[in-house]
Amino acid sequence: MNKEIKKIAVFTSGGDAPGMNAAVRAVVRTATYHGLDVYRIQRGYSGMIDGHIEPIGTKDVGNIIHRGGTILKTSRSEEFRTKEGRKIAYEKLSALGIDACIAIGGNGTFTGAEIFTNEHNIPFVGIPGTIDNDLYGTDNTIGFDTSINTAIEAVDRIRDTADSHDRLFFIEVMGRHAGFIALATGIGSGAETIIVPESKTSEEEIIATLKKGVERKKLFSVIIVAEGSPIGGAHKIAEKVSAVIGKDKTRVAVIGHLQRGGAPSAVDRMLASRLGYGAVNALLAGQSNVMVGIQDRNIVYIPFHDAINKKKPLSQDILDMSVILSQ
Ligand code: F6P
Repeated sequence: MNKEIKKIAVFTSGGDAPGMNAAVRAVVRTATYHGLDVYRIQRGYSGMIDGHIEPIGTKDVGNIIHRGGTILKTSRSEEFRTKEGRKIAYEKLSALGIDACIAIGGNGTFTGAEIFTNEHNIPFVGIPGTIDNDLYGTDNTIGFDTSINTAIEAVDRIRDTADSHDRLFFIEVMGRHAGFIALATGIGSGAETIIVPESKTSEEEIIATLKKGVERKKLFSVIIVAEGSPIGGAHKIAEKVSAVIGKDKTRVAVIGHLQRGGAPSAVDRMLASRLGYGAVNALLAGQSNVMVGIQDRNIVYIPFHDAINKKKPLSQDILDMSVILSQ
């Protein structure tokens, strides 16, 4: 039987994502509404181990819904990967009488949470916050929508130069293990080819597509490459392709961390608000070891184990469409 929850802590962990602040706000305000005491943990699991845990109230989360990054700061903690580190974290939470935690982050964050809750009796509920959108069980993660809007805007700008100079641009977007950002950016910006970690497009195929474009009097091209492309990043692919089609017309742009910052989109603010509200309700209903997600516009609760270990595939239909529309 779960003990009654009176005090909860909230933290962000892993890569920051636009909309994390909106989620923190929703957690604090929903929990306060239900009469809970809420604590903020600074810098994720590192802060938990170091005891950087303080009360947070509704006023503290005013004027943050529109801000990118995370007011709670974030980190990727090596110490929390160790049993000793997790024991210290447990002692810090227990000393303050914290009954439950809400973790906002991605795969690494929930992996840590799952191990922790199996070792120590403090329930955790997760909120998916990562621009990568690579968590099983939720249609979207917080930050994904903003990041693809940012990336598309960047590609639109680069397209002006590509068009003006008749150039071929290789543009690299984030996504080490998943191609959601690359696929959405590529479709939204009308790219000729999209290279994702999940599929193996060869340099030869890229060259064939470019040659077809030339036959159709297509003078410039944009190719989107996911950071985790199986045939190398944008620089590597550009080097090989330009050796065949000519170096003078080829350029590379890596969007990098530009696509992780900035004000969250309306979609991310709404998503984060719903997930924050849903996470507190989950804890109050006695849930633990679950990630709150949204499927078909409904709140769902997915075991951490599934969210972390099950593969969220790219839609084959959307992949097929991207090829047809780029012709
Ligand atoms: O997980 C989010 C993400 O932005 C990935 O897309 C990217 O590969 C990684 O984080 C970069 O991490 P860091 O900011 O630590 O370099």
